Amino acid sequence: MIEDLFNIPFIAQLALREKQIQQNYRPVIAVHKWFARRPGTLFRGLFLAEFGESPVAETFFRKHDFPGRAIADPFMGGGSPLLEANRVGCDVIGFDINPMSAWIVREEIRQLDQTAYRAAAAGLLEQLSRQIGDLYRTDCPVFDDRDVPVKYFLWVKVLNCVSCGRDFDLFPGYLLAENRRHPRNVLVCPGCGELNEVADLRRLGSCRACDEPLLLSGPAGRNQCRCPHCGHLNRYPRPEAGAARHRLFAIEYHNPPRKNQHEGRFFKRPDAADLERFERARRRWLALEPRFTPTQVIPPGDETDRLKRWGYTRYRELFHERQLLGLELSARHIAALPDERVRHALATNLSDLVRYQNLLCRYDTMALKSLDVFSIHGFPVGLIQCESNLLGIANGNGACVGSGGWRNIIEKYAKAKEYCEAPFEVHSDGSRRVVVPVAGEWIGEQREGASARRVELRCVDSSTAALPPGSLDAVFTDPPYFGNVQYGELMDFCYVWLRNLVGSQAEGFGRDSTRAADELTVNSHQGRDLEHFTSGLSAVFHRMADALKEGAPLVFTYHHNRFEAYQAVGVAILDSGLWCTAALPCPAEMGGSIHIHGTGSSIVDTVFVCRRPAGDRPPTDEHRLFVALLRDVEQLRAAGMQPQTSGHGGSASAGSLCANSKRME
Ligand SMILES: C[S@@+](CC[C@H](N)C(=O)[O-])C[C@H]1O[C@@H](n2cnc3c(N)ncnc32)[C@H](O)[C@@H]1O
Repeated sequence: MIEDLFNIPFIAQLALREKQIQQNYRPVIAVHKWFARRPGTLFRGLFLAEFGESPVAETFFRKHDFPGRAIADPFMGGGSPLLEANRVGCDVIGFDINPMSAWIVREEIRQLDQTAYRAAAAGLLEQLSRQIGDLYRTDCPVFDDRDVPVKYFLWVKVLNCVSCGRDFDLFPGYLLAENRRHPRNVLVCPGCGELNEVADLRRLGSCRACDEPLLLSGPAGRNQCRCPHCGHLNRYPRPEAGAARHRLFAIEYHNPPRKNQHEGRFFKRPDAADLERFERARRRWLALEPRFTPTQVIPPGDETDRLKRWGYTRYRELFHERQLLGLELSARHIAALPDERVRHALATNLSDLVRYQNLLCRYDTMALKSLDVFSIHGFPVGLIQCESNLLGIANGNGACVGSGGWRNIIEKYAKAKEYCEAPFEVHSDGSRRVVVPVAGEWIGEQREGASARRVELRCVDSSTAALPPGSLDAVFTDPPYFGNVQYGELMDFCYVWLRNLVGSQAEGFGRDSTRAADELTVNSHQGRDLEHFTSGLSAVFHRMADALKEGAPLVFTYHHNRFEAYQAVGVAILDSGLWCTAALPCPAEMGGSIHIHGTGSSIVDTVFVCRRPAGDRPPTDEHRLFVALLRDVEQLRAAGMQPQTSGHGGSASAGSLCANSKRME
């Protein structure tokens, strides 16, 4: 049982490493984005502790098979607990109110003929190269080479002055690239737009082209910017003027044959041919009659209102013409593929690709790469946008250069599906990562020579999920964290594309939007409050508890900085007649993650293990609680963390938990 065989420091160490680069530990997550996936290593540890017979540290790297055990997850999202359960031979039943969830988990679990997939993906790339490859090329001014591939196009938002009527750029700052991944800092000249390489940011000097002094800070900030032509102070955003407009101001490109003659990356200011390429894309897009590009209006919402404030009214306005052209042509090619399994795989890829092919992507000036729209759990509207090469770039060994293109998505997806055939674990040998194959385990429904595993995935509100009493060996889940993530509002961004491409046959795809009134999140637009969250969670726990076999656990992860978010959890546990037999801490986020950076959010989850009590509950007193807390803190320290407990007044964590933790250096 978990209470006896789980090992907090052992699993915490693995989870901590996994969260640094989750795709290296659980490549399957690359099938499609889902928000804040919990570490797979945590759920594996929990399963082995519950169903195994030896301590987790002894069994973790060995093969397991628990056929006939039925595991449910009422909030499956991207499927982390279910995938781990399926991998160790269990039957799984997953529910989620969001139709994208069941689609994605099905894509993760369903077997794929890799050869057929690779061939179809290569065909797509070939066709796109022929159709639009020329639009992602540029000339290298350093070596006078023609038609080299572009990695990223960088765009700045443009405003029209209400006083003089002329356009001007909304630069929040002029630093395009820092001197971490490139030998020098790259600055845009505020006068003529030329790109300048500067060794020391304390001595900026002047522009090599026009001699104007270089600057770090730009004129746009706090929603206002002075017009450089007439000096009038303009306010932005201005939704009444329509969707935000952009101007191409820089390009990062790739020129591999010159690698040995050139230090660092290649940046340039766009020339007339680059502007003409975009113009060509625009004309071609306007001449098309789109069949798959979404026409939907963006509904108001807690997250989508930020888009509305920037004048965006329809999803398609979040993409410019070159992106729309590439996505529409991709969708047409995919829709015509005869093999349904491969067609669905590539449609899933397109849905994931749109995260990188839109006008909300930003450029990471330190890492020098594109940040996808969901690098935070919202819709970030920045003043500088990054457009990735839609095709992606492969170097001589076939490895991808840059991010956010078809090649990147295809490679990640293929690796994800390879992992399903032969999952592995990773352990760290000092600073070395050692991959440990776990021969005999697999993710899927059926393999030759093995007994079939039941996989039932449903798009439903889990408070209505019907399960026979006493049918489940365990429930492992990761419920919504109060109002932290607005799943429906965010997932619609991908869904409007996927649904147009695959049709409305899949369960839940009859809906126009993935939003649902019964989504268990607090949302002011949809009038969902603490009471809605509490009664919904309670109804779901109740149903799950009734379906559990005697003594079987309901296990869930949770964290929140607000105390009332835990009241809901407490009510749900009590209402369902369960008893919390353990509360285990486990790191679940990286403090440096962009979506929580600077928010003071907890990076440690509490794993609540609940069972139906056989007799009376033992009383809980403050002293026992305090002792339990101290023990948890010690165990996290043993895993290499420096937990800080926080008390009342703002940032409290449940039962035994530590709100802010940071990795020991
Ligand atoms: C924290 S996420 C689960 C993440 C998942 N464990 C993973 O690793 O990707 C919570 C999920 O609960 C779902 N959800 C919210 N309200 C629901 C409801 N009433 N019924 C079923 N699912 C719901 C959301 O759509 C979301 O996918």
